Amino acid sequence: MYTKEQAIKLLQDNNQEHVMKFFDELSDENKSEFLTQIENINWSDFKLIGDTEAASRGEFSVPPAVEISEIEKRHDEFEAVGIEALKKGEVAAVLLAGGMGTRLGFDLPKGCFNVGETHELFIFQCLINNLMDVVNQVGCFVPLYIMTSEKNDATTRAFFKEHNYFGYNPDYIQYFVQDMACAVDYNGKLLLEEKGRLATSPNGNGGWYASMVKAGLDKDLKAKGVKWINIFAVDNVCQRIADPVFVGATIAGGFQAGSKVVRKVDPQEKMGLLCLEDGKPSIVEYYEMSDEMAEAKAEDGSLLYKYGVILNYLFSLEKLDDIVNNNMLVHVVEKKIPHIDEDGNHISPESPNGYKFELLVLDMVHMMDSNLAFEVDRVREFAPIKNLHGVDSVDSARELLKKNGVVL
Ligand code: UTP
Repeated sequence: MYTKEQAIKLLQDNNQEHVMKFFDELSDENKSEFLTQIENINWSDFKLIGDTEAASRGEFSVPPAVEISEIEKRHDEFEAVGIEALKKGEVAAVLLAGGMGTRLGFDLPKGCFNVGETHELFIFQCLINNLMDVVNQVGCFVPLYIMTSEKNDATTRAFFKEHNYFGYNPDYIQYFVQDMACAVDYNGKLLLEEKGRLATSPNGNGGWYASMVKAGLDKDLKAKGVKWINIFAVDNVCQRIADPVFVGATIAGGFQAGSKVVRKVDPQEKMGLLCLEDGKPSIVEYYEMSDEMAEAKAEDGSLLYKYGVILNYLFSLEKLDDIVNNNMLVHVVEKKIPHIDEDGNHISPESPNGYKFELLVLDMVHMMDSNLAFEVDRVREFAPIKNLHGVDSVDSARELLKKNGVVL
């Protein structure tokens, strides 16, 4: 562990010595925790701040896809392949629940939010109910791994236990904690969460497999004979998880990965689009897209690039092992970061006040050699909860749940 002097030197070299302001007030235990945190700062991330130069992109083309009409025709064939893989225990599911969910403004982990109106129906419960459909269909439990962060791990575990795992078999549930990264203000200055603690946040949704390996769970996956991992976001309450038809279509097509997508209808819609870039799977965020690309038309007059990703992906475990040590791009993301000011007062900002450093799952998709876009019906499978009201909100998700016959 660093000594106080070593920490000060390191901080001075990086123009960050302000974080030592309260050091002498700390308990011995807190001092050593703080010094360890300082020792582990990843300074290379800081160089990315203010780097506005967009990375040069390759040549885009339309990715291989199965659209709803084709899926309907080949439903039984795909489903049979998927069911076989699920029955053999080759498919696991990973719930990405490490995010801070700041837009929702809810104190507990997002999955603990109650979307019910006349009875309790938590977001976690919706997801487990959806997964139980598959469990009941194939007759066996799907191993479920839940990624938490150090901020919400204990609460998430306690919540599942308290609610009896919403009927899931707890022997098939495991948790792992994702890594954290520092947060800084708009001038690149480290923020303090407490007098003896740097403000940190979960390091994005792209570090999940590396975190699983760190937790030793790759061995568990292999011991179980898992070959495919379906990762999914906590906030889409309608999505089908470990969906046999999706799994089967990806396997039957000989793909390394599959992505559930919904069809973009308006050129300006804000969604990340799945494409091929120089022949490799690639996701282009709406803010990176030129108008020309957003509006490009196919021969039949529909949008050429129309497969919007919904954070529900299937990855081959073998390929994940290949890429786990690859360096991933670090993204600088503007967020609201609670912190203390120079007098030690706690500040909970109402709007973004700085940057977090995040790894994103879309960069994992780009590392796959092949990926199938699998179209799903937006009304049936896309009800993300980001905000309380408005677009992608509790209100819009409730409407969609009702349309899908869920009693709230
Ligand atoms: P979002 O991009 O919506 O981020 O996450 P968020 O942090 O949950 O929400 P805001 O932006 O603060 O409102 C998409 C999915 O990725 C997970 C989230 O839990 C959600 O399932 N995620 C995100 C992680 O698991 N870890 C992260 O570090 C970030």
